[in-house]
Amino acid sequence: MCGIVAYSGYRKATEVLVQGLSRLEYRGYDSSGLCVWDGKQISLRKKVGRIDQLSKLLAAQPVDGAVGISHTRWATHGEPTDANAHPHFDQSGKLALVHNGVIENYQQLKEKLMAEGHEFKSQTDTEVLAHLVGKCYEEQKGAQSPLTAAIKAALVQVTGTYGIAVMHEDHPGVIVGARRGSPLIVGVGKKEYFLASDVTALVAYTHDVIYLNDFDIVEISGAGYHIDSLTQAVNEHHITTVDWDADAASRGAFPHFMLKEIFEQPQSIQNAIRGRLSTEEATAHFGGLNLEPRELRQINRILVTACGTAMHAGMVGEYLIEEHARIPVEVEFASELRYRNSPMDENTAVFVVSQSGETADSLAAMREVKRKGHRALGICNVVGSTIARESDGGIFLHAGPEVGVAATKSFTSQATIFLMLSLYFGRLRHLSPVVGMRILKAIQDLPSKIQEVLDTNEGIRLVAEKYAGAKSMLFLGRQANYPIAMEGALKLKEISYIHAEAYPSAELKHGVIALISPELPTLVICPQDGVYEKNISNIQEVKARKGPVIAVATAGDTHIKKMVDDVIYVPEVDPCVQPILNAIPLQLFAYHIAVKLGCDVDKPRNLAKSVTVE
Ligand code: F6R
Repeated sequence: MCGIVAYSGYRKATEVLVQGLSRLEYRGYDSSGLCVWDGKQISLRKKVGRIDQLSKLLAAQPVDGAVGISHTRWATHGEPTDANAHPHFDQSGKLALVHNGVIENYQQLKEKLMAEGHEFKSQTDTEVLAHLVGKCYEEQKGAQSPLTAAIKAALVQVTGTYGIAVMHEDHPGVIVGARRGSPLIVGVGKKEYFLASDVTALVAYTHDVIYLNDFDIVEISGAGYHIDSLTQAVNEHHITTVDWDADAASRGAFPHFMLKEIFEQPQSIQNAIRGRLSTEEATAHFGGLNLEPRELRQINRILVTACGTAMHAGMVGEYLIEEHARIPVEVEFASELRYRNSPMDENTAVFVVSQSGETADSLAAMREVKRKGHRALGICNVVGSTIARESDGGIFLHAGPEVGVAATKSFTSQATIFLMLSLYFGRLRHLSPVVGMRILKAIQDLPSKIQEVLDTNEGIRLVAEKYAGAKSMLFLGRQANYPIAMEGALKLKEISYIHAEAYPSAELKHGVIALISPELPTLVICPQDGVYEKNISNIQEVKARKGPVIAVATAGDTHIKKMVDDVIYVPEVDPCVQPILNAIPLQLFAYHIAVKLGCDVDKPRNLAKSVTVE
């Protein structure tokens, strides 16, 4: 949700900034801009539209320098326009600022500043912050580090969230950053230093990074960095080395990141499993939970909280944990949990699931849970993310960077982690070694089964393209395939803009059936499991009303083929991994429809990957 890149060093700043922004474009893509110190002044270039629009502007009006700040925007306050694009200047025109987050009291601050003669060019909360910092700068001119002092003085007046980078003409070479609620990372190079919202913007230049904490304020220049805190006297930081390189975050030969990430799933699942299964004990192990087996056995209720796709993975987990470990599980939208008073006792374990580890609602829900004294465990992909750092323990997905805005590989990794957790909790309780081994074996086989589904991609494309003209679609599934249906519907909505709804199959007759017509295709997840016959009845109900049906069915099921319009087959697997496997054709189904419709698959309209505002 908005991306920041800032640079101070010896390279051509525009190249570093534009390349970094391109890597962050998944965070927002309605406008972008940069400011570079050109030796005489701070030069501004900004443009509505994708980053290639900014590149075109820079080609026509180049700017040379080795220090700069930049931003790719996901609009919160004010429409996407050139004027609202960042950076923004203060009243003096000498201070430039980029911002990720929301200044909640910007209206009051703006009125006060306007009464003092400040004039604004945009409708953004960010420009208000730039003016406020500029005003504080005038008041702090005598201070030792006046720019840092001004930012501190301004930020104490602000309510809301921010990740910022600021430069001032009086201090060429210096950039000051600060964060509260929006991620900001320092990149440590040799005689060059960076700030960015995400390591993906930095890995082409350095693998050494420092994850800033909330209320940190950092000053970088070509000579080094200094980190201070708005709230703490002692503030320790460590350099972390990122263990993947720029290739992991590039598309390679794939036309879209989403397709690349779908095809990475045999590997990403393998990474989630690696070192966590014990055939000797027929169980799973997790190094980072920070809980003794005795404490784990005392857990008598699990609360999973997350947003969007991550919440669907939590719902898969609900079915699996209840089935294998007999622990009651509840899944709650993080945006709801944070504002409700959900009863919890000391034996409730809370899992916060987030690919990015930065989602504002998930983070706030986790902080609320922790404030009440409960233990919060994270299931995250991004190492060094705020949720990963603030949780009491947790499990990393190790899925590698997920750049496509539509989550794919993170979902199947999260669901696999839940499956392994169900095995672990089950084996700490009543689950026999024999059943444990059956589950373990199914998990081990999952990557190759996923590969088998991926090998049928071409057939899935042909089916999908037939339905690209639909205005709306229904997705049905039972038990753990119900959240898979929800995930399939979400994928279709977000990347192809086709309306889709998901229901547990049997709910059809309680109202939704009124929608069935030849114009409304229904996708039914119908493996040969314990509820196969029930699903078949639901298919008959749709067909009786002339609704087209696509079935996701078990390989070899010739019976279903006669009943439905199209079948997508998946290999026969143990029921515990079936839902995870079924997610793959649904991802591909949505992908091919979106491509057929000419949609921008990796950057769907109105979305951004990491939702760091409420
Ligand atoms: C959907 C999607 C979103 C995210 C949600 C949570 O494809 O990507 O629904 O799943 O915004 O994001 P994380 O997992 O980063 O907390």
